[in-house]
Amino acid sequence: MTGHVVWHGRRVAFRRGESLASALMAAGVHNLGQAATGQARGVFCGIGQCQNCLVRVGDRLTEACLLICEDGLIADPDAGGRDG
Ligand code: FES
Repeated sequence: MTGHVVWHGRRVAFRRGESLASALMAAGVHNLGQAATGQARGVFCGIGQCQNCLVRVGDRLTEACLLICEDGLIADPDAGGRDG
């Protein structure tokens, strides 16, 4: 392991070069947020096309499958455009 990200307040270890989606799945995290319909979202395509893995990093949304982990990165689930 080469560091930790913080997912929704939980420390998650990652390997160098690993995407956030990969690190989260390895840690047993599969629910990455909530769609506007209320359904849970997670990794689907894994290549940045479906937008199903959008997560909040600071004030922006980004695809977890494309985001390479950095030590101390803080990310949270997105609530489908709603606060929370
Ligand atoms: S899983 Fe489809 S964009 Fe990330």
